[in-house]
Amino acid sequence: MSGGWLEGYAALITGGGSGIGRAVAERFLAEGASVTVLGRDRSRLEEVVDSAADRSRIHTVTGDVRDSDTLHTAVQETVDRFGKLDTLVANAGVWDYQRQLTRLTADELDTAFDEVFSVNVKGYLLAAEAAWRELVKTRGSIVMTLSNASFYVNGGGPLYTASKHACLGLMRELAYELAPKVRVNGVACGGMNTDLRGPRSLSLADRSIAASFARRGPDTPPPPIPLHDSSTDPRDFTGPYVLLASRAQSGPVTGHAINADGGIGVRGFAHAAGGDHL
Ligand SMILES: NC(=O)c1ccc[n+]([C@@H]2O[C@H](COP(=O)([O-])OP(=O)(O)OC[C@H]3O[C@@H](n4cnc5c(N)ncnc54)[C@H](O)[C@@H]3O)[C@@H](O)[C@H]2O)c1
Repeated sequence: MSGGWLEGYAALITGGGSGIGRAVAERFLAEGASVTVLGRDRSRLEEVVDSAADRSRIHTVTGDVRDSDTLHTAVQETVDRFGKLDTLVANAGVWDYQRQLTRLTADELDTAFDEVFSVNVKGYLLAAEAAWRELVKTRGSIVMTLSNASFYVNGGGPLYTASKHACLGLMRELAYELAPKVRVNGVACGGMNTDLRGPRSLSLADRSIAASFARRGPDTPPPPIPLHDSSTDPRDFTGPYVLLASRAQSGPVTGHAINADGGIGVRGFAHAAGGDHL
């Protein structure tokens, strides 16, 4: 195609086998980019390749974002295959299903903290470490998937909220450290109908956030966000990623998060306290 905002770009997306990562991969391809998709599940990566109109512009790497070697391999294979790396989308993550502190034992906290933070935070940091040298060469950028939970409470429990606040801090710190060569920004997504899973250490690895969307019926009250009818289809969240990845569209933008969450920040007080049941 010609005329896309990312014509000729080469991108690496972690956690791109499903959800927003896959939607961003497909949107980047449609905008003219070549894309390496890294994920844990080989069959899902094959589905992404099979659905691509132009398979010459897509490459996959199977592995875990907690493993630095896998991330270095993904960066190297992107450069070998597409000649360079312009954009890293750090995205793979897990949710804690809003498990509140008062419903976690000390042992659960101990193991689940390590799991959630190692995927959600260390996974982003290791990806940035693997990618920054190539991004310096292209004056490229990093776009991190953040969350409403990077700014507000009750979008997760303490583990997820703390991890996503940590990602916001990471985005800002790296925006400073990698300037002026590499821009670092984030997209703070609100609720999306994806396959988002929970930590294995809390026996939540087989649960998918998609089930909570499937349970919604015509009588289900709208979500408590100003844009009641805000889409939950991850494809509708991909525009800010394209904008932030594009040098032409956001060359002076770094250290910034675009909140794509239906307007949570302007809704005022919803519930005064989360512990009324205690
Ligand atoms: N779904 C939502 O409502 C929502 C809202 C805000 C932010 N997010 C964030 O969006 C990002 C993507 O999640 P999603 O909702 O698209 O869910 P998803 O599960 O559909 O996508 C995440 C992908 O990352 C992969 N993954 C998970 N852990 C991995 C690991 N250790 N190594 C490699 N790959 C791994 C999964 O297999 C999956 O393909 C996450 O960072 C999540 O926190 C999601």
